[in-house]
Formats: sequence, C-alpha cells, structure tokens
Amino acid sequence: MQIVRTIADLRSCIAAWRAEGLSVGLVPTMGGLHAGHLSLVGEAARRTDRVVATLFVNPTQFAPNEDFDSYPRDEAADAAMFEGAGAALMFAPAPEIMYPKGHTTKVIVEELGAMLEGEFRPHFFVGVATIVTKLLLQSLPDVAVFGEKDYQQLCVIRAMVRDLDIPVEIVGGETVREDDGLAMSSRNAYLSAEERKVAPVLYENLRLVAAGERTAEEASAYLLEAGFSSVDYISVRDAVTLLPEMNPGRPARVLGAAWLGKTRLIDNLAVG
Ligand code: PAF
Repeated sequence: MQIVRTIADLRSCIAAWRAEGLSVGLVPTMGGLHAGHLSLVGEAARRTDRVVATLFVNPTQFAPNEDFDSYPRDEAADAAMFEGAGAALMFAPAPEIMYPKGHTTKVIVEELGAMLEGEFRPHFFVGVATIVTKLLLQSLPDVAVFGEKDYQQLCVIRAMVRDLDIPVEIVGGETVREDDGLAMSSRNAYLSAEERKVAPVLYENLRLVAAGERTAEEASAYLLEAGFSSVDYISVRDAVTLLPEMNPGRPARVLGAAWLGKTRLIDNLAVG
C-alpha cells in the first residue's frame, strides 16, 4: 500500500489507475480503526479495482470543548490495518494541506444537517460535509463508502452529493457490532470497564423500539436507569428524510445518542 500526503500525489496515483481503466473506491476515516472501518474498506474493494482509504482527524467537525486532542491517533497501526483490509493507497494529509491558510468555504446541508445530531453538535455536519466534499473532489472516486453506524451522516452525504451533482455512488456499510451488540466506534476506547458493561443497553433499547416493544420515551428512561448520564435523543424517523412525520409504507429508522460518563455514544437501527 502506498502512502501519500499531498493532493497532487493522490491525484497522480489515481490518474495512473484511471489510465489503466481501473475503478476507484474511497473510504474516508479519521483513523482509530476497528473492524467496522475495515468492513468499509472490504465493501469498497468488492465494488472497485483500487481502494483509497483516507486518514485525517478533521478539526472542523469538533467543537472547542470536544475530543479533537484526545481522538485516537496511531498512523502506523492504522496503515497496517488498511493494508490488511485491501486498501491500495492511504491518503494521510496534514491539516494545512486540507485547510491551507485563507481557507474560507463551508458546505452546509441545511435541514438534514440541523436536526438530531445537528441540534446537539451544530458545527458537526458543516465540518463533515466540507471535508467529505473536498475528499470526493480530490479523488473523484466511482464509489465512496460510509458506515451506517453514523446514519445521519450517511443521509447528509447522500443529500450533499445529489445537490452538488458530485458524480459518485455513495454506499452505506452495515454497522459492525461487538458480541454484546455495542456498535463498534473509535470512541468506545474512552469507556471505563464499568461503562463498557453498561454501553450495550443503548443497542438493546433501540432494538426494542425498532421491534415496537418499547417507546422512545421508555427507552430513554431505561438508559438513565441503567447508568447513562443523559440522553440527547431517541427518535423514530423517516429513514430517508429523517423527519419525524412517518408515512405508511416508507422505511423508518430509530436513532439514539446518549452520554455514558464523558463518552457520547450514538447508534441506530432499521425499524420493523
Ligand atoms: O465518519 C467519520 O469518521 C468522519 O466523520 C468522516 C466521514 C471521515 C469525515 O471526517
């Protein structure tokens, strides 16, 4: 696997593949890799000839009080994992490559990006939409794969690509879970041993809401009783628009976000 750090090098590797008639898949990540990320690389490798995996902890999607500084960073370990999963190239730019002095443009996906996560982390989707637009335009892949674990992010990126006419197919990769149901996440590393035991209660409750066996309000109460410190939301939404109005026959999704000590966990499941 090659490692490149500049946009020019990224483009020249991809141009060489294109000259051979090869297709290209993109898997954007912030590192802190786990089996969930590797399954996205696998999905891209099944669909395309060459996979570009990106490693960039994007500062613009963190608020000043969030975990940008403590976010897991181990480039050598992440590179080995990308290579093992079948990536042909890792793009690991420095912040000044992605945001050179004078960078001023932001991509805002208005309604979809303002609800749910957007209410609690107003900066988040602006940062995500901006960096993903840049990565897509820098690499111009055929396919880009994002995890369903961040379901609203996937919806925001689909809307953004449609609205900006970016010629790429966006593919959602299934959430990979631990044996007890906890969705894999780089942030699970922050959980203490005690919190780790409580963490799967989020998944269990979303599962019961998705099965119609518990309401969102009941699920929130169960989370607090189990030891979660607060619940930002548990909500059943239209699976595409993420609006709370549900129309019969349309797919629905239950999404949740809750705090366990200092760690914020999110998860979601298809309803029914
Ligand atoms: O899902 C993530 O890890 C990030 O939000 C992404 C898509 C790589 C953008 O920084």
